[in-house]
Amino acid sequence: MRIQFLGHAAFLLTIGEHTVIIDPFVDHNPKAPLKLADLLAKKVSHVLLSHAHGDHWGNTLDFTKAGATLVAPNAIVGYAEQHGAKNAEPLNIGGGVDLPWGRVTLTQAWHDSVFPDGTYGGNPSGLVIEAEGKRIYHAGDTALFSDMALTGALGLDLALLPVGDRYTMGPEDAAKALDLLKPKRAIPIHWGTFPGLTGDPNVFVAGARQRGVDAHVMQPGETIEL
Ligand code: NI
Ligand code: MN
Repeated sequence: MRIQFLGHAAFLLTIGEHTVIIDPFVDHNPKAPLKLADLLAKKVSHVLLSHAHGDHWGNTLDFTKAGATLVAPNAIVGYAEQHGAKNAEPLNIGGGVDLPWGRVTLTQAWHDSVFPDGTYGGNPSGLVIEAEGKRIYHAGDTALFSDMALTGALGLDLALLPVGDRYTMGPEDAAKALDLLKPKRAIPIHWGTFPGLTGDPNVFVAGARQRGVDAHVMQPGETIEL
C-alpha cells in the first residue's frame, strides 16, 4: 500500500483500488500539501478517526458527505450522524471491524476527546490498521503508556507516533514507546504544525535508530510504500 503524509496526524492510504484517509485535518492545517477538493476527487471510501479534536476531526463531514464511511469511536459516530453522516462503523476501544480492504481496531489513548463546539467526543483512541498482510499503528494523540506493549505484541510493520510535546508525548517518550511497540518502521507525527508543538521529530528519529528501528521524518506530501 501507499501511505502519503498529509501533515500533522493526517494520512492518505491507497490500498489496491481503495483510498482511505486518517484524521482528515485539511482546511485549517497549515502543513496540508493538498487542497480539500483534490482529496475529495480521490473518492475516499473510509475516514478513520482517532478522536474529536479539531486538528483530527477536521474535514470529516466533507468526506462523509461525498460518500465515505466513517470508522470512529461510537460517540463521534453519533455526533457525525446528527450532522448528516449517512454511513458509519461505530467502534469502541478493543473492538474492530472488517472492511472491504482490511480491518481497523481501536486502542486506548491517554488524551481527551471534545469536538470544536464543546460536545463530548467519548474516549480518545489509537488505530490499528491491517491491510495487505501489513499492520500499522496510528497512535492518535497520546501519552506514553505501558499497555502499548499489547499492541506491539501483535507485530507492527509501521508505527505513526505523535512527538510534538505539550498535548501529546514528546520525542523522548515517543522513542521509549518503540521499546514497547517494537515496530519495523516508525514515522513521527503531530509536530511543527503550530508554534506550541515544539517536540523535535529529529530527536525521535535518532532515538528510533539507536533502537534499530527504521525511521525518518516524513515531509507533508511525501509517500512511502509498505
Ligand atoms: Ni487531540
Ligand atoms: Mn491533536
